Amino acid sequence: MLENKKIVLGITGGIAAYKAAELTRALVKAGAQVRVIMTKSAGEFITPLTLQTLSQGPVYVDLFAPTERYDMAHIALADWADAFVVAPATGNVIGKIASGIADDLLTTTLMAQNKPALVCPAMNDKMLANPAVQENIGKLVRFGYTVLDSGVGELACKTTGAGRLPDIPDILDAIEGLFSPQDFAGEKVLITAGPTQEPLDPVRYITNQSSGKMGYALARAAHQRGAHVTLVSGPTPLSAPRVERFIRVRTAREMHQAVLDCCDDATIIIKAAAVADYRPKTQAAQKIKKDRGLAAVELVRNPDILADLGARKKKGLLVGFAMETEDLLANARRKLVKKNIDMIVANNLREEGAGFQGDTNIITILDKNGQTIALEKMSKTEAAHRILDHVRTLGRRKGSRAKK
Ligand code: PMT
Repeated sequence: MLENKKIVLGITGGIAAYKAAELTRALVKAGAQVRVIMTKSAGEFITPLTLQTLSQGPVYVDLFAPTERYDMAHIALADWADAFVVAPATGNVIGKIASGIADDLLTTTLMAQNKPALVCPAMNDKMLANPAVQENIGKLVRFGYTVLDSGVGELACKTTGAGRLPDIPDILDAIEGLFSPQDFAGEKVLITAGPTQEPLDPVRYITNQSSGKMGYALARAAHQRGAHVTLVSGPTPLSAPRVERFIRVRTAREMHQAVLDCCDDATIIIKAAAVADYRPKTQAAQKIKKDRGLAAVELVRNPDILADLGARKKKGLLVGFAMETEDLLANARRKLVKKNIDMIVANNLREEGAGFQGDTNIITILDKNGQTIALEKMSKTEAAHRILDHVRTLGRRKGSRAKK
């Protein structure tokens, strides 16, 4: 999504300025063209040479430096960019932008531009909580800037609280969001992702190979497109994406309860999780010793969460997945009808590049109107957007708020 996008990255003088090097690298890796503007204070924390090397382009610091092409750098950069990112943004620079002060190259360029712009505040927690800073952040939002909430954790000054620069993947998601249509604004999307674990004893459990990547890609994509997203996730090593609500569960029964707690509110539910159909009938309180033998494990059925949602469905759109190893379309359509859902996304684990673990998927979308759309191999992120595109089309027909 960032391929060939022209990004002006403004770096201001906080300790998190060193992380701007990693952000620059990630943007270039994603295919973006990056021009860096540093404030003078940023130069106390990181050198222009580092950013010049990583961005493969010139780094601008001085408002009054002569330019090669006789144009004014702040106007030329404002015109060149598709989007602006200020990361990290100090309280001082946030205050200047909010007050219409333009006394260096970065603030002058920001005043001269009218493109989508993202500001990532990073500072000490007490500075961030200061009423003047909070009011200035509010002003930026009213002026049309997207402001990414700071992360919470240990800060450079050794205190713990809000004020960390968000993680680089979260900043990249937010930058992609600047270019996304907001066609899910107003929608409340509930997504499940990952496997479930069904314990046998404190050490062992039954699970499957789901990594959570497909469901997390859907959560990110829906969030970028303006939805209020609740993600219910089974155990995965992935870091939680920035969504409105993130609920971690372990077992199918926990996932069932979490989904029931949230489903009344949701306008769209997408069940990408690979839920274990069975669990051990009993769970031993202590580790089962091998010399006592474990000849067989008795299993009992877990609740079918999707079927349960289908049975109680009154409003909104319900989307399921079908993970198959044979008769993909027939099995998927059977699940679509049996579970009373609006749309099902089928993937065949036997196909190279589809299903568990990898970064790609090969999906076929089937809906209750009889439409079948087979898609080629693509990244799970791209697949997530194509699924949302079809949800939007179905929603329009059904009168949901998902709009063009
Ligand atoms: O997580 P990744 O590594 O990225 O892999 C992605 C994926 C392969 C897990 C994903 O693309 C996928 O296919 N998810 C659904 C897996 C699955 O459980 O399929 P199923 O055909 O067994 O179930 C059909 C539907 O019923 C699914 O929406 C499932 O969430 C739901 N279900 C199943 C059993 C159950 N007890 N409760 C359910 O809600």
